[in-house]
Amino acid sequence: MALSEPRISLYWKNVLTEQIGEEHGISPAQLEGLEGPVAKAVEAVNAARAETPYRDLPYRTEYRDEVRKIAGEVAGCENFVVLGIGGSALGNIALQTALNPYLYNVDAAQRQRTTTDKKTVRLPRLFVFDNVDPVQFGNFLDWVGPQLDRTVFNVVSKSGQTAETAAQLLVVRKLLLDRLGPKVLREHLVITTDAETGVLRPFARNQNLRSLVVPAGVGGRFSVLSPVGLLSAAVCGIDIDALLAGAAAMDDRVKTPVLRDNPAALIAAIHWHYYHRSKPIHVMMPYAYALKDLCDWYRQLWAESLGKAEARDGSRVHIGPTPVKALGATDQHSQVQLYREGPNDKVFTFLQVDQFERDVVMGPAEGELADLDYLAGAGMAKLLNAEKTATEYALLEDQRPCLTVRFDRVCAETVGQFFYLYEAATSIAGRLFNINTYDQPAVELGKQATFALMGRKGETYEKLARAITAKMRVDPGFAV
Ligand code: PA5
Repeated sequence: MALSEPRISLYWKNVLTEQIGEEHGISPAQLEGLEGPVAKAVEAVNAARAETPYRDLPYRTEYRDEVRKIAGEVAGCENFVVLGIGGSALGNIALQTALNPYLYNVDAAQRQRTTTDKKTVRLPRLFVFDNVDPVQFGNFLDWVGPQLDRTVFNVVSKSGQTAETAAQLLVVRKLLLDRLGPKVLREHLVITTDAETGVLRPFARNQNLRSLVVPAGVGGRFSVLSPVGLLSAAVCGIDIDALLAGAAAMDDRVKTPVLRDNPAALIAAIHWHYYHRSKPIHVMMPYAYALKDLCDWYRQLWAESLGKAEARDGSRVHIGPTPVKALGATDQHSQVQLYREGPNDKVFTFLQVDQFERDVVMGPAEGELADLDYLAGAGMAKLLNAEKTATEYALLEDQRPCLTVRFDRVCAETVGQFFYLYEAATSIAGRLFNINTYDQPAVELGKQATFALMGRKGETYEKLARAITAKMRVDPGFAV
């Protein structure tokens, strides 16, 4: 990426002692002390590149081409519906909120695009369902029912076993079969799953459905730049080439073992340092609505990757920071009282945009409104960024460490950089915390218990169901 291309950058001065004092700031000696362990962690992450195939997703043009082919084939639909959960949904949501207009689904004009051959096309609405709430899903099905023939469902599940996604699939499949018949199933279902394992792959194969592969070794929370996140993005007009180019540009910046030159290493090192100094809570607070769902994506990535019972050597550590999301300026009026005066147990990361896509200028303030004159004629972009600076200043006054990820502007390139930056930071942090970043054993028991409670056959599930019933029987003596 050329130097003039839009970039994100990390501003980290506001964690240093010169900004927030000796007690809570990082001193020059402490910073120097971080350099050795961080260099080792970055080198280990670089050396393990073959075992972490998410690192090469920006260069896997074959996935991008397959995605583009299917996106072209389903382009005429009116509704594109992603059924997935966790890493199979959060990236899709984040991409849509960041890169498509606020009223994309509601306003047909905002879904209009002109193609390279000067044709006007209307992109489909996007819905992502990452839950099994019967009221929410039922209401959606009532609405979409009459337009089922213009609706495509993308079922995304790496394992093909996840109960929530399986439930959605079974509901939708029946609806499609009942209303439209078996012959057109192919027109309405796209499956994104593992190349070999799980029930979805043979289902896709035998029903002759369109399908995409979740690359082997790429876990859900690291899969946004794979077909998992790319298909819905491409269908909804997001420039996936620019997204991947942004990620590739960040790849170049996160390889160096030199702490001060590597934004991912700085993020990992600073949070690791503070985790061991009574600041285990990591707040991400964007000052741009477009960036708000990146926080949900980050929250899963950081929590599921770094919250572990065991260290790499098998010892019990029960380690892991707690990621929290907030939204500026909204949460200034909800959380900042706690953030400033409550326990000094948090590290703050602001997301800031230098050049907003547009601005809204405030009108004059005269007569009874004369007191509001300080706002008159100013743009909301200036106000929002002033609020970010003001909040950060106020936090610094109370010795709270703050980082800022600055976006030149919000576009596919910078969002691609952001995804890759935090994925690399997570890998480096995992090394520093000395845990396995890529597994999620604790999620498993809940998944198995759900299977058991839903009556899945097999001795293991039956035994588990009995254990759950014994422990979870409601004791009326404790319900008040
Ligand atoms: O990051 C992860 O691995 C998880 O959040 C998964 O994405 C989530 O559990 C869904 O799994 P699957 O894609 O197998 O349905």
